Amino acid sequence: MAANRNTVSTQPPIGNIPRPRVLFIDHAGVLGGGQYSLLDIARHFASSCKVLLFADGPFRERLQQYGVSVEVLPAPRKVSGVSRQATLLQDLRAVAGVIHLARSVAKHARDYDLIYANGQKPMVVSAFVARLANKPLIWHLRDTLTVQFESRLHLWLATTLANLFVARVIANSKATAEAFVQSGGRADRVQTVYNGIDAASFRAVTPEQVASARLSLGLGSAPVIGAFGRLAPWKGQHVLLEAMPQLPGVHVLFVGDAIFGEDAYARKLREQAAALGVTDRAHFLGFRQDIPLLMSAVDMVVHTAVEAEPFGRVLVEGMLARKPVVATRGGGTPEIIETGVSGLLVPPSDVKTLVAAIGGLLADPASAQKLAEAGHAVALQRFSLEALLAGVTRQIDDVLARRR
Ligand code: UDP
Ligand code: GLC
Repeated sequence: MAANRNTVSTQPPIGNIPRPRVLFIDHAGVLGGGQYSLLDIARHFASSCKVLLFADGPFRERLQQYGVSVEVLPAPRKVSGVSRQATLLQDLRAVAGVIHLARSVAKHARDYDLIYANGQKPMVVSAFVARLANKPLIWHLRDTLTVQFESRLHLWLATTLANLFVARVIANSKATAEAFVQSGGRADRVQTVYNGIDAASFRAVTPEQVASARLSLGLGSAPVIGAFGRLAPWKGQHVLLEAMPQLPGVHVLFVGDAIFGEDAYARKLREQAAALGVTDRAHFLGFRQDIPLLMSAVDMVVHTAVEAEPFGRVLVEGMLARKPVVATRGGGTPEIIETGVSGLLVPPSDVKTLVAAIGGLLADPASAQKLAEAGHAVALQRFSLEALLAGVTRQIDDVLARRR
């Protein structure tokens, strides 16, 4: 597994002000971007926090590896099964489970100063917990709250609960913050704190490791694109596949799995590759834990989300790996990439423009390198792990200070 060590150590308490005791809540046992981000945050607060998960899995193992105290409180099926586009009936069936879960969480909350909900499902449960245990609640908002993703009922529910019970909403991009306000969330409650990525694990990759990775993937000297991200229809891997016949000789690594149950889409992608006659060049690697190495081994990182990507950690990671990044414009991506300067942005679901952007970069390595270097500088400067931790700490301190 690639090094994924933090360079940031847990700060000692300043003077005799103790570190705030934070109870983090997450619904997932798997590792998506929100969980990776919480992993970094919880490590920073390891001496004074606990993480409660509503499902078991590799996320729990990673937290424990890093010395973070973690407990799993499995959510009743009627709660864990609620999708973002659930019907009113499905939502109603989940109510009793949500309250039951909130009661269990509230017992843990008594020992903490603050509850920190990492995502929307945990926020819904935590809203009741905050009330029951009389603790302030922060919601780290990592989703785009629009009808493209959520039922209208969920948009209403999320913003209403937030307006009533959440002391501070931390949005992972300005776009996410704006969507929250557009859906009825209170503008004075929301602050943007960008994701930050640990640059050390990218710096640690050696040219020898890269050469052997390319060899073991059987890539030789062919141009290679890396598409990093879980397989899900809105992540748009099908658009990149569709572009492949127009990019002869180019290999694509699809790195990621259908971790949130989108297995039918994963199957469809493989069928699509076969129908397009590109199976020898489309490599589905599944979920990998050696992202810094794989990103360093490709020539370009391409992200073809077809809906507004709330932030998109993979863009910053591609920049840290010193690769030119091509991404679709939407959500947080224009806040990360200035097109033509630190990467390229193309319209979503536009195969022709995508092919031209990728082809242009492959044909002009000098320009591609320039974009990559500019992107690298931006990633270090604006999306550092230190900045994320400072931003989150500031919000926690501010919420607690207002409470006193
Ligand atoms: N990732 C990973 N292994 C994979 C695919 C993705 O570790 O096989 C990581 C990736 O490096 C990134 C995160 O998962 O840190 C995905 O975050 P992003 O914000 O791009 O998307 P999300 O899944 O949160 O929507
Ligand atoms: C979510 C979003 C992604 C974001 C991540 C971390 O999973 O889909 O865009 O980067 O959270 O905040």
